[in-house]
Amino acid sequence: MARITASVYTSHVPAIGAALDLGKDQEPYWQPVFKGYEFSQQWLKDNPPDVIFLVFNDHATAFSLEMIPTFAIGTAASYQPADEGWGPRPVPTVTGHPELASHIAQSVIQDDFDLTIVNKMDVDHGLTVPLSLMCGRQDPVLGAWPCPVIPFAVNVVQYPVPSGRRCFNLGRAIRKAVESYDEDLKVQIWGTGGMSHQLQGPRAGLINKTFDNQFLDRLIEDPAGLAQMPHIDYVREAGSEGIELVMWLIARGAMGEKPPSVRHRFYHVPASNTAVGHLILESS
Ligand code: DHB
Ligand code: FE
Repeated sequence: MARITASVYTSHVPAIGAALDLGKDQEPYWQPVFKGYEFSQQWLKDNPPDVIFLVFNDHATAFSLEMIPTFAIGTAASYQPADEGWGPRPVPTVTGHPELASHIAQSVIQDDFDLTIVNKMDVDHGLTVPLSLMCGRQDPVLGAWPCPVIPFAVNVVQYPVPSGRRCFNLGRAIRKAVESYDEDLKVQIWGTGGMSHQLQGPRAGLINKTFDNQFLDRLIEDPAGLAQMPHIDYVREAGSEGIELVMWLIARGAMGEKPPSVRHRFYHVPASNTAVGHLILESS
């Protein structure tokens, strides 16, 4: 049977992708950010998954105000890096896993979560930057990501957004779906976005280190309690874009009830307008 072996949590700041693509990663501003992922890149090589289930948010790239799915699962065979206004990032095409994605859709929808099924979708920095951080620079043509990826897009851009509680319970349903897939696959689930940041309005530039570190503590130790936090608290404490953090609860919910072990924890301010947070939790 398939099983969830680990979860990875990381910010997805688009400027990190640009820094890597333009060869600026050794510059003093960026060096501490990339240093925080050196362990993670080696860990991923030492613990290769067969599939990555990657929870991210689309930033009005694949979807627009014309259509706003709360939860959308990618069931396609491949996904192109999106053109976000400066041309697509020079990174490899993302290969999907239609069979496992369709199985998860079937199981999770029958478990009362309404997913939108997406057979064609371009993927923006929300998905490609976490892959770059964890896998390093890959040649867009000769290179490849280490395994198939199932993109799972969550609406955290246009209100109303899903609650942390719903995200956490959805993660539990995803775990059940993976564990009922009849093939011996090692699946990692990644929760991306965050941490505290606000890109607009009078509070633009907001960063809340205390909140972020408490969020990391609670995500590890008390995820069910953390899942009760209402969305207004994310906005108040972590800024309007800090709401992206609810996606981390999907990955954490998929880790099951046994306490996981912490393999890596990293926090750094600033990267562009955000605090970068990163965790690796292994199933025990
Ligand atoms: C920034 C962060 C984001 O999460 C995003 O989607 C866009 C921009 C930033 O820090 O600039
Ligand atoms: Fe974002």
